Amino acid sequence: MSAAVVAQKAPYPVEVKAGESYWWCACGRSANQPFCDGSHTGTGITPVEWVSDKDGKAFFCGCKATQKPTMCDGSHKAL
Ligand code: FES
Ligand code: FES
Repeated sequence: MSAAVVAQKAPYPVEVKAGESYWWCACGRSANQPFCDGSHTGTGITPVEWVSDKDGKAFFCGCKATQKPTMCDGSHKAL
């Protein structure tokens, strides 16, 4: 399995909708951050689904080092 790469050392703020499903890029290789575009193929890493329970802004992890996928937990500050 290949290691995840840092897409950016900061979260991606995204407007999300209640009940909608989002596929977070865990590998860092997607060109459509913070979401999966299929670029993980061959890495052994797979995207992680997240379903919003409300309308509003969500802060998806961009560094891929979060301990609480799929959201930023501040781990990027240690990179
Ligand atoms: Fe990164 Fe799919 S492109 S998990
Ligand atoms: Fe990854 Fe904050 S952007 S923990």
